[in-house]
Amino acid sequence: MLYQRLYVNIDHVATVRQARGGTAPDPVAAALLCEQAGADGVTAHLREDRRHVQDDDVLRLAATITTVLNFECAATDEMVSLAEQIRPFAVTLVPERRAEVTTEGGLDVVRGAEVIRSALERLKRAGVKSSLFIDADTEAVRRSVDLGADAVELHTGPYAHTLGDPRALYALSASAALGATRGIHVHAGHGLCADNVGPVAAIPEIEELNIGHALVGRAIFIGLGDAIREIRSVMDQSRRGP
Ligand code: PXP
Repeated sequence: MLYQRLYVNIDHVATVRQARGGTAPDPVAAALLCEQAGADGVTAHLREDRRHVQDDDVLRLAATITTVLNFECAATDEMVSLAEQIRPFAVTLVPERRAEVTTEGGLDVVRGAEVIRSALERLKRAGVKSSLFIDADTEAVRRSVDLGADAVELHTGPYAHTLGDPRALYALSASAALGATRGIHVHAGHGLCADNVGPVAAIPEIEELNIGHALVGRAIFIGLGDAIREIRSVMDQSRRGP
């Protein structure tokens, strides 16, 4: 089975820093550790309210990391302009609601179609790969293909929060299979940890996982490098099969 990439979401390191408003822990230093431990890329979400990652973090990440930057943001003019300026390897467009604790659901690719389409066109012109964070829903996959995205990131929250409900897992595998058939790259993420990542990692069409909170939480106990190696090994084992 094709190698599956692991991108580490370092927002949660920035959240700890912002709790005290200083400079430590530095998410850029954490990103470098992630890379040393085998992460294939770094994901950073710059929220409109700047509650964790700051603009300067994104600029420093873009200039420092040796893998690739997946810049996660809402499809606003401000964020797309920043992406045009820094030209990260990829941009993942996500919905943002001010009061949410974390990203709660996938993009509304029907009502938001025109805004998303125009953001995707701008990213394409800037030479940046695009991904849409969507619910694991075959209609949302079809719409994402029609909108011209390079990839979709399937929301694994419903699977993670129902402790691996087979229906949620089926929705992920059906959406991933459809995406691959329609020629769009398939990523997944949200709420994944070493205990629940196996069945998602085993879905052959999923090329990349974005994982953050569980890794940073686990790092408190075993260190960031070992937390990454632990989840990497579950992913690899799952793709090898029983
Ligand atoms: N993908 C997207 C689009 C996200 O917003 C998040 C949240 O940080 C993640 C993946 C990673 O989720 P988690 O932090 O729960 O691993």
